[in-house]
Amino acid sequence: MKKILGIISSPRNLGNSEIMVKEISRNISLPHELQLLRLSDFNILPCTGCYMCLIKNKGCVLKDDFNMLAERILEADALIVAAPTYFLGANSCLKRLTDRGLALYPHAEKLWGKPAVGIGIAGIPGKEGYTLLGIENFIKLILADMKQAGIIYGALPGEIFLNNENRETAKELASALFEPAPEKAPCSCPLCGGKTFRFLKENRIQCMLCSNIGSMTLKDNIPCFDIQKGEHELFLSLEEVIEHRKWLVSMKSRFLQHKDELKKISLDYRNYGEWIKP
Ligand SMILES: Cc1cc2nc3c(=O)[nH]c(=O)nc-3n(C[C@H](O)[C@H](O)[C@H](O)COP(=O)(O)O)c2cc1C
Repeated sequence: MKKILGIISSPRNLGNSEIMVKEISRNISLPHELQLLRLSDFNILPCTGCYMCLIKNKGCVLKDDFNMLAERILEADALIVAAPTYFLGANSCLKRLTDRGLALYPHAEKLWGKPAVGIGIAGIPGKEGYTLLGIENFIKLILADMKQAGIIYGALPGEIFLNNENRETAKELASALFEPAPEKAPCSCPLCGGKTFRFLKENRIQCMLCSNIGSMTLKDNIPCFDIQKGEHELFLSLEEVIEHRKWLVSMKSRFLQHKDELKKISLDYRNYGEWIKP
């Protein structure tokens, strides 16, 4: 029996994120058990950037619930991730968990390729801002295989199902989860499937998910992207993830190599300004 983990970033009990995750699960035809994590139930401290999880390889040193969450993610066969839009982005519970992702790198081989779908919920049509990017970013950085992700609208708890269209979206996401990933849509990055872009000088365009750069042309009024891989990839293949992990681990020797210079730079700022404490 497949174990599906629903990651719910909304603190709202029986809110739209929770309902959508459960509706997606109800539409999955494979026998499975659905386990649910409401991120706000857990103590997830901010990453302090100590890199000990990579250097010591013993999990995160912070005393909170992260290691337990990581275990659940590792155990799952597939993931459904749902987050509400708060002020134009996925709410902060998801970002806090994303930021702890360095501690997942030692498990890259086990994490790689778990099927995942994502859904963002916004209260006002068109006012979702970068919510989808935040969800896609989380799914990619936990090295899952993003089958499909999208945004639906509804403000009041349950409002997403006042119209039937969103139930259809739940069905689509349910069937996408264990299917081979669909061809990348024309309006998305051909390398990673990202749908958010930044316009650069000289008609260049950058994918905000994989960070790669290329160009855009219109074909029958549909934007088509030609994006080239860079030299330092974060998640496009397992080999590149392992390369990136090596680069991260090499930070320690880079730090030791430049320790004195770095110390000199930092110390110059030590006593500047007055700290306000709680
Ligand atoms: C603090 C806060 C900020 C919000 N900001 C936005 C926003 O920027 N855009 C939007 O469309 N909806 C916004 N909403 C509405 C929620 O996205 C919407 O109610 C959604 O259904 C919540 O999902 P949930 O029921 O899973 O918590 C906001 C809600 C809250 C509580």
